[in-house]
Amino acid sequence: MLEKIKDISIEAEKILQERSLNHEDFRLKFLSRKGQLNDLFDEFKQVSGEIKRQVGQNLNLLKNRLDEIHKELQAGNSQSGSTAQGNKEDLTLPVIPNAVGTLHPLTLVRKKIVEVFARMGFNTEEGPEIESDWYNFSALNFAENHPAREMQDTFFVEKAAVQKDDLLLRTHTSNVQIRLMEYKKPPIRSIMVGRVYRNEAISARAHCQFHQVEGLFVDKNVSFRDLKDTLFHFAKEMFGKNTKIRLRPSYFPFTEPSAEIDVSCFICKGEGCNICKHTGWVEIAGSGMVDPNVLKNCDIDPEQYTGFAFGMGIERITMLKYGINDLRLFFENDIRFLKQFKGI
Ligand code: PHE
Repeated sequence: MLEKIKDISIEAEKILQERSLNHEDFRLKFLSRKGQLNDLFDEFKQVSGEIKRQVGQNLNLLKNRLDEIHKELQAGNSQSGSTAQGNKEDLTLPVIPNAVGTLHPLTLVRKKIVEVFARMGFNTEEGPEIESDWYNFSALNFAENHPAREMQDTFFVEKAAVQKDDLLLRTHTSNVQIRLMEYKKPPIRSIMVGRVYRNEAISARAHCQFHQVEGLFVDKNVSFRDLKDTLFHFAKEMFGKNTKIRLRPSYFPFTEPSAEIDVSCFICKGEGCNICKHTGWVEIAGSGMVDPNVLKNCDIDPEQYTGFAFGMGIERITMLKYGINDLRLFFENDIRFLKQFKGI
């Protein structure tokens, strides 16, 4: 009998290793009423004498081990997700699709902007969001107490004894222009992407935080025409190939001359609608030729080099592109809003 116990034990271990039986067939073969273990117990009744103790012990060990193996086979089956009838997968079951997330519309538009400019040879730079007055204002030719500082309501972090050392949340990404020109000499052809802050009441059209992309191109012989061509190309890539652009004179302390860039309204194709307030044009960016004072502040000789710069709000471009009428939607993480940008 001891031999038989040993043989059954070896066979059961082999089944476990090779998973050659599922848990139910295993149970029928070894553990059920008509199974091999029961036969052994029947046989055991006839055993007598000295050997009985040893056989009894081995039989109990075998029983415990068979129970264990049965449980392991059961666990293995549920892991592989097979059916109760066998360990084969049920290939007819319908697929349960995974819930797939979507990119945030601002991310989509940012990626598109970066891509369009990358093709024109612009690399991407970043800079700090907590900035000193020098990089955010003074180096950009904002005179002390000049009303232009008021154009951008500033969140101050720390007031210093000397104004240029004040710490603040940057109000535009133009601070990166200065940092870039400080450590890199022309040719410079970069866009600067990031978050900016302004002390504005939150409404459908304004927020205290938003995102900008700014561009800077400094080299020998960079002209206003290069600025126009670059932004014209961008507008066509972003809003469609029939898009026109229009430049209107404007003012920024750090550019001279300065211009606002409008694009022809791609909703009504210039005929007049709510988005363009019936003018046929929508404003997308500020721009201009880098003021010689800014170049000087960064130790770049304005006699030798010229440059252009432009800046735009990613939220604004996104709202125009997708006809979104409330800026707050971008920051609320409402899944019903975000879901609509699937696959764009
Ligand atoms: N920094 C300006 C702004 O926020 C935009 C701009 C950038 C204008 C570069 C001209 C040139 O508002």
